[in-house]
Amino acid sequence: MISESGSETTERFHDRDSERSRLEKAIPISSRQPGWIVNSIYLLEKILPKALKPRPGVLLSFKNRILLSTFLVMIGVVITIGIILQVTVFPQLGGDSPAIKYLKVIHLFVSLVVIALSCLFIERISKKITMPLIELTSRADQISREAGASTASSDQSGNDSLEQNEGAVLVQGDEIHQLTVSFNRMLVHLKASEARLRESEEKYRFLFDNGPFPIFLIDAETTMILDVNARAEEDYQYAREQLLAMSFADLGLDQDRKATVARLQQLFSTEVTLLPVMQHRRRNGSLFMVNYQASLITYQNRPAIIAAVWDVTERLEKHSQLIQAGKMATLGEMATGIAHELNQPLSVIRLGCDYLLKTTQMGKSLAFDDMKNITEDLTASVDRASRIINHLRQFGRKTDETMTRIDINDPIRNVFTLLGTQLEANKITWNLRLSEDLPHIIGDANRLEQVFMNLILNARDAMLSGDYTTCEERESEHVIHIASNSERGRVVVTVSDTGPGIPQSIRDKIFEPFFTTKKIGEGTGLGLSISYGIIREHKGTIEVEPHYKKGASFRMTFPVPDIGVTS
Ligand SMILES: Nc1ncnc2c1ncn2[C@@H]1O[C@H](COP(=O)(O)OP(=O)(O)OP(=O)(O)O)[C@@H](O)[C@H]1O
Ligand SMILES: [Mg+2]
Repeated sequence: MISESGSETTERFHDRDSERSRLEKAIPISSRQPGWIVNSIYLLEKILPKALKPRPGVLLSFKNRILLSTFLVMIGVVITIGIILQVTVFPQLGGDSPAIKYLKVIHLFVSLVVIALSCLFIERISKKITMPLIELTSRADQISREAGASTASSDQSGNDSLEQNEGAVLVQGDEIHQLTVSFNRMLVHLKASEARLRESEEKYRFLFDNGPFPIFLIDAETTMILDVNARAEEDYQYAREQLLAMSFADLGLDQDRKATVARLQQLFSTEVTLLPVMQHRRRNGSLFMVNYQASLITYQNRPAIIAAVWDVTERLEKHSQLIQAGKMATLGEMATGIAHELNQPLSVIRLGCDYLLKTTQMGKSLAFDDMKNITEDLTASVDRASRIINHLRQFGRKTDETMTRIDINDPIRNVFTLLGTQLEANKITWNLRLSEDLPHIIGDANRLEQVFMNLILNARDAMLSGDYTTCEERESEHVIHIASNSERGRVVVTVSDTGPGIPQSIRDKIFEPFFTTKKIGEGTGLGLSISYGIIREHKGTIEVEPHYKKGASFRMTFPVPDIGVTS
């Protein structure tokens, strides 16, 4: 670097020397004087062209023009006053007297001071005049830039050339011209951005209006409907104006109003929330089930909610039909077991009745105690049979999917009312370790019973299948272990068996619908997938315990509602 700049300086000195020698040659030898004259000429030659050289753009500035015109006017005024004084006043005052000389000097001095002061003053004023123009220009340019920032790539090149042309115009014009150009450019950009805005609004309006689902724009504070799409009018059979006069909660049932408002007001921004299934009513009063997704947005400077709603009635009906079919299949499978269950009380009744008949036929009278015991046995057996039948009816009933506070141990115990005798007949024992002080969960006992029924039947089938790898395993006891307890705010239930277990290769498939390893006609492959669905509706989880050694083990967890939540 140093050497470079050094060489530059040397070059400059060389230039200066050659210039000097050129001038020295130009001046005749006779008139050559010592160095200062050459230096002065050289300097003048350097400075004058620079000072006189017209500067592009200097006079294009409005400010400079004001300054220059004032300067010229002031010089003109001073010269005129000087001439007037020279022609009129000085001759009268008498020639070359020293007083006149002083007056002339004072006049010259005052004139210079006046010119300097007025130049300074006008400089300030012209700055003041042009500053707002410059500021307006830069503001207009900024707005143009901001409006042009979102220009689509398609018209990018066109805009670039526009900017370049405008840039060139800017250099050439004065402040007023620049302002005009900037304002024009701003207008062009604003118009373009307005057109883009309109286009984008039309696009989103089109998407909104032609959305496949009803879409509602809701006031986040009042839950009043602010806007709806055509699909909402169609599905709810209300006119747009009617919907705009309603609250979103008016579309649901009266008893759900509070919950709907609370849910909408608890939404978080930037998060799309899927809200639980609820019932909505059409204008003609017909009800349908809806799922809706809502998110908090800002609309016209206030918080609003955009909610897309879709009808899930058909899906839910199909789902409930599937569950019902699953239940019926389970009942069908249990037919032998149920026959066993009913056979036992019926045998007792038969024996009791036979004994009574024989005694009366023989004309014998019965002792009071015998009579009491027999009638008590008969009543207990009738009760047991009717309990089984009632439970069967209850289990087979199509439920309304009502969720209440329940003790999870109840559906676990109930399963054995229907399956107990059948398991015993197959030499399967069960071991219940149910925690007595479990917190209640929110659930549907009937549907949970179906889950436990599926798991126990699977355990039974696995243990009876004989698919064991060793003889010891096959000959070992068939036991079903069921345990319930609470862990970290959740109720946990495990159902384990001493069967052959679930091979690693099929563990991630067993919850899929129609997956079965049973022979055709023996299993539908729906048991676990229905159970998974039911547990998910209870906001619970179900998984196969990966490290369970002997047999298979399913672990389920269910959330415990906060204290104060009612069913
Ligand atoms: N306790 C278990 N031990 C071993 N394998 C099991 C156990 N539970 C389930 N499985 C495996 O998971 C598969 C799917 O079970 P799922 O209950 O869904 O259907 P399924 O029992 O075959 O048929 P269905 O329940 O309709 O009678 C079973 O076929 C079996 O291979
Ligand atoms: Mg099954």
